[in-house]
Amino acid sequence: MSHTPTSRGQGKPGEAIREIVFDAAAISRRVQQLARQIEADYSGRSLLLVGILKGAALFLSDLVRHLSFPVEIDFLSISRYSLDSGGGEVRIVRDLEHDIQGKEVLLVEDIVDTGLTLHYLIQSLLRRRPASLAVCTLLERPELRLAEIPIRYAGFRVSRDFLVGYGLDYRDRYRDLPYIATLKLKPSHLSAKPVVSRG
Ligand code: IMP
Ligand code: MG
Repeated sequence: MSHTPTSRGQGKPGEAIREIVFDAAAISRRVQQLARQIEADYSGRSLLLVGILKGAALFLSDLVRHLSFPVEIDFLSISRYSLDSGGGEVRIVRDLEHDIQGKEVLLVEDIVDTGLTLHYLIQSLLRRRPASLAVCTLLERPELRLAEIPIRYAGFRVSRDFLVGYGLDYRDRYRDLPYIATLKLKPSHLSAKPVVSRG
């Protein structure tokens, strides 16, 4: 069964889906291409994929199914303090189960926007001395970047439009959509962020 923009994600007026930007087939094709790249780089080595909850959960679970070599997976969850509450600092609220010292680690994220989330996370994880630490993000939005992030794998470049679906949320909704879309009411995604937001 296919999902039309109007069949899911309807809520309060003004919050419904406006336009599908990447449909399920396009996402799937790109995820498979990323899997081929990761294989080329890591095959034969032992790799730990670390998903940042909750946004990256769908992407990570599709990605690992397309990898032809065994990997381990783990997740962490963060709180991000808004820029206006001072500093945009990231706190890990659910930490990894794995000790990453000496491991090849690939951080998996839904979208790199300002880059502040990953900037803080990378600093924090590097202190645990992994053998390597790289970033794989489904989406990247270069226009609003505030911190330089070394992104090794990126699915799609996107514009300023706030996106939902395939893990991405607006106020914790729409993550379950199989496609990535814009909303009818365009939230100014910087000001719409709650004081503490969880990935
Ligand atoms: P950054 O720290 O600004 O790079 O923010 C990255 C996080 O903000 C992502 O992990 C998302 O949780 C959230 N985010 C940024 N842009 C969007 C968007 O367009 N839709 C939904 N969430 C977003
Ligand atoms: Mg996130």
